[in-house]
Amino acid sequence: MANSEYEYVKREFEYDRHLPPSNWIVVRIDGCHFHRFSKIHAFEKPNDENALNLMNDCATAMLEKFPDIVFAYGVSDEYSFVFREETQFYHRRESKILSLCVSYFTSVYVMKWKDFFPNKELKEPPYFDARAVCYPNLKTIRDYLAWRQVDCHINNQYNTCFWMLVKSGKSEQEAQLALKGTFAKDKNELLAQQFQIKYDDEPAMFRKGSSVYREKVETTVKTDDYGNPIKRPRLKVTVAHIDIIGPEFWENHQHILREGKFMLEFVKKIGIGHMLPPCNWIVIRINACQFDQ
Ligand code: GTP
Ligand code: MG
Repeated sequence: MANSEYEYVKREFEYDRHLPPSNWIVVRIDGCHFHRFSKIHAFEKPNDENALNLMNDCATAMLEKFPDIVFAYGVSDEYSFVFREETQFYHRRESKILSLCVSYFTSVYVMKWKDFFPNKELKEPPYFDARAVCYPNLKTIRDYLAWRQVDCHINNQYNTCFWMLVKSGKSEQEAQLALKGTFAKDKNELLAQQFQIKYDDEPAMFRKGSSVYREKVETTVKTDDYGNPIKRPRLKVTVAHIDIIGPEFWENHQHILREGKFMLEFVKKIGIGHMLPPCNWIVIRINACQFDQ
């Protein structure tokens, strides 16, 4: 296309920030004015299971849509999406990554609303803000996720106490005052003594938030000549409410935050390394399984 006299407005004024290479990219989205949004849609307090499951479904759709998202963690009206360290998604252009994530998430939220709230009209358009932060190594990305989960724990413990006190007849101000200066241990005691609630028995989704990642599951890929299912491990997007602060989850899921050299590792793992000579283009042809079904 020929350049017009106006073309300079792009050349001189448009800038693209490219996020630095070899960093994990986290996109964190957060509901705008969800205090109001949850109120006008009468969400359960402090946790609305349907609203949280809707957020989780949106996050699952994100992992299914964008293969470079390796992990997501969500709580309340926020979700963090971790892009793999070496991603070349839109050449790591920040504006593209942010806008695609936040718009896709929001569209899915609106589309799926009726699945989770069949008897509630969506009264206002939900909208989310987003930011991108880069983490240079495994320690910092793990610490980031731990920070969000600690926050989930602190807020949920407080909110559980607060709303139990309010539901039992205290005003919001009285409840706030009753909890002022209390530690985690005090809050657990308050729940146990006044309301016979053992905090650890509260639903794991409320206490731990939601983690979304690809998990190997045995999947029937075809049947043999006798009609017996033939199963193979396949990666499936999974939602779990587990501890991601300690090492156990990460030790058992090392494929999620694998650093660098992804292709080489993959090739080695599936045992075709000896067949692929170096410095060659590699073509992977995929062929649909059971497409007639
Ligand atoms: P901005 O993000 O700054 O626009 O403000 P916000 O109103 O979205 O508040 P913030 O993100 O700090 O916190 C999220 C708010 O959403 C909470 O304070 C709650 O009021 C509301 N919220 C999120 N999840 C639930 C839920 O499951 N039940 C209820 N009742 N409210 C929720
Ligand atoms: Mg918010």
